[in-house]
Amino acid sequence: MAPTIYLPMDAMREIKIAVSRAVKANKLAVPAVSEADLFSHPLDIRLIDLEQVDGNTTLREQILIVALAKRRDAQKVFEFGTFDGKTSANLAANLGPEAEILTIDLEAAQAGATRMSIGKKDLRFVRKDQIGAKLGSFSGVVQLFGDTGRFDFSPWYRTRDLVFVDACHEYQYVRNDTEIAFKLLQPSGLLIWHDYGTWVGVTRALNEFYVLDPRFRALRHIAGTAICFLEVGLDHPEEPPPVCRVL
Ligand SMILES: C[S@@+](CC[C@H](N)C(=O)[O-])C[C@H]1O[C@@H](n2cnc3c(N)ncnc32)[C@H](O)[C@@H]1O
Repeated sequence: MAPTIYLPMDAMREIKIAVSRAVKANKLAVPAVSEADLFSHPLDIRLIDLEQVDGNTTLREQILIVALAKRRDAQKVFEFGTFDGKTSANLAANLGPEAEILTIDLEAAQAGATRMSIGKKDLRFVRKDQIGAKLGSFSGVVQLFGDTGRFDFSPWYRTRDLVFVDACHEYQYVRNDTEIAFKLLQPSGLLIWHDYGTWVGVTRALNEFYVLDPRFRALRHIAGTAICFLEVGLDHPEEPPPVCRVL
């Protein structure tokens, strides 16, 4: 039998292999927390409706997004991916009259002119009759239109205390939108992503951010949902290197 030869591997190569294994197996590298870990008190939340169509977050996820926003007393919000406006409307209904919620979506007519390519599955959500159909009576919500890969977000840099990333699910877009989300955030704030574990591009991007990028050390997945969140600017206890969790 041929002898086994062990080649030296540097730490970065080991981490890259860990990430690619995790993604190939569609494993979730981001540590999970339960709702009970996050909320010990009864939640006081108003919901605009209970309808859930393909493309929306689930009822449980809506409650958790609003609860996370209320826990941080978020007032300045940016949502990536308006869709029918349900999440923005629910945030407006819960964050008080002073809250300002900006939400951006891509008009169907612009779908062929995006900076990066958008897959068929995402195009189903882009092609709709109206963006933000559920936003009618919410004056605190401002709709913006454009491709998150091209839009000029700079007027709102460092102004937001919550950014919700839920637009195109392609890996390159999730990376792009996440970097912009960091720029939009004040020194302290909350980032939330949807579709972790359900869309490959989102899962891969967040797995990689968590394993490779120290800014994401406190990233957490809420068990039983597709939500990940990161509280930026808070002191988090020291943690072991994430690569241990992936392997
Ligand atoms: C899953 S839906 C968002 C759901 C919504 N956030 C909610 O909570 O109900 C994704 C949205 O992202 C939009 N979108 C896709 N690619 C985009 C892009 N490049 N720029 C802006 N919006 C995009 C789609 O038009 C679609 O409305």
